[in-house]
Amino acid sequence: KYLKDEEVSQECMSLLSTLPSESGWLSKKLHNYQGFWHNARQLQGVISCQKHFQAQDTDILLVTTPKSGTTWLKAILFSLVNRTRFQQTEGDHPLLSNSPHALVPFLELKLYVDGETPDLSSFASPRLFSTHLPYISLPKSVQDSKCKLVYLCRNPKDTFISLWAFTNKLKLQEIRTNSIEEVFEKFCEGISLCGPFWDHVLGYWKESLKNPEKIYFLTYEEMKEQPDLHLRKLADFLGCPFSSKEEEERVVDAILDICSFDKLSNLKVNKEGKLPSGESNNAYFRNGQVGDWKNYLTAEMAQRLEKICEEKFDGSGLKF
Ligand code: A3P
Repeated sequence: KYLKDEEVSQECMSLLSTLPSESGWLSKKLHNYQGFWHNARQLQGVISCQKHFQAQDTDILLVTTPKSGTTWLKAILFSLVNRTRFQQTEGDHPLLSNSPHALVPFLELKLYVDGETPDLSSFASPRLFSTHLPYISLPKSVQDSKCKLVYLCRNPKDTFISLWAFTNKLKLQEIRTNSIEEVFEKFCEGISLCGPFWDHVLGYWKESLKNPEKIYFLTYEEMKEQPDLHLRKLADFLGCPFSSKEEEERVVDAILDICSFDKLSNLKVNKEGKLPSGESNNAYFRNGQVGDWKNYLTAEMAQRLEKICEEKFDGSGLKF
């Protein structure tokens, strides 16, 4: 069970007292560490993972902004790299009975959460992990090793709506429901889990331009529009391209099918199961649409966020 914010270690408490803080939305307080906002428990995980996680050259790290399609990409990457071990058409594929979050665990939110130091010796190679950490906060061994990073983000307006809906659904601990206006203001100020959103995206975007063999930069919208193209490109990037025999056998389609929103969201494990942290797996599946923000944001709100993003991404070559 997760610790409450007040129960973090003495070491973490003394660090927290030196950091800027703001009232948050998923937790009572967010703290600014290395330029990004984290709640206290998460921060304890960040620090533990920075200290202890040793990346291996063959590791694959899925990095995402919260609510950008992490669950989907976890399923995709797991199926992709394990496709010879587990056939997508077999009834015993691990995705049929496990949440993608159980198969590809978060570093700071699961393995190292609350300052744990996990034993990773049972992970099969290539090890697959995920994180919401900004580039600047990655454990040093991730940058120093040859491990590969897949980065996923999403249009900020849909990211915001998905995040708002998610936090209201979780209603963790004693946190009240958040009004959309209240949290929109915070998001625009950059105050959200692992935000500012634009700084997170720009950090990885710039690195991916410098080092395209190390970081594959992808958006939710690109993946929705051309899933087969990006799955093939991911396979090439990760050094496991589809063979002509696999192409003949339509393995790409089989992977996309088992990882589709309809398939995953209708599985018993994802409908009724809970993560060890107590969150319902179904909180990770809402409707999976591009442009759903139109049903929630006023024209004024949309314009405001668009303008902020235009300014922030100006000159970067990146557009949402
Ligand atoms: P919506 O809230 O817009 O529906 P994350 O996994 O990073 O928390 O992101 C969650 C978002 O991804 C949610 O978006 C969710 O519905 C969507 N999602 C989950 N599984 C998906 C899948 N298999 N295909 C497409 N989108 C998916």
